[in-house]
Amino acid sequence: MRIGICPGSFDPITLGHLDIIRRAARLFDVLYVAVLDNPSKRPLFTVEERLELLEEATADLPSVRCESFSGLLVDYAADKNATAIVRGVRSPSDCEYELQMATMNRQLSPGLETLLLPTAPEYAHIRSSLVKEVALFGGSVDQWVPGHVGRRLYAKLRAKEGADR
Ligand code: PNS
Repeated sequence: MRIGICPGSFDPITLGHLDIIRRAARLFDVLYVAVLDNPSKRPLFTVEERLELLEEATADLPSVRCESFSGLLVDYAADKNATAIVRGVRSPSDCEYELQMATMNRQLSPGLETLLLPTAPEYAHIRSSLVKEVALFGGSVDQWVPGHVGRRLYAKLRAKEGADR
């Protein structure tokens, strides 16, 4: 069994993430999409909400399992018997950070490889934080996230606005 892990914050999942997940799913028998549970990052969506959005987005991919994890990624990977971590890279600056993480993860867990997949050019500019900013100021995010994610994003921002008043 080839088992891979696609980790991230996914706050929320974008079409860029989804493209990487779809392409990575073809490389493994099972692909865990692993949401980092790190409240100190102050995410917009809770882990449960991010998992729901991911599950709906990947419903047509039978080998994909969406889970959350906390602590070190290498420990989660060992628990799942994974042989590789998959990350998408959008730009040279992404590469720099990803290479550092890949090397540190490899030193922490020598058998665990990191595969860096270049993001498809049409998605290379998409960033969850910018999608949230556009939605916050009323812009359309339809071209960057799946439809159900956009709807949840506006609903979440409206609810947050109400609560902050
Ligand atoms: O989507 P992100 O925020 O770029 O994902 C970053 C993530 C979750 C891959 C990274 O922060 C991570 O692996 N965190 C878990 C803690 C850990 O193992 N840190 C050491 C990395 S060398």
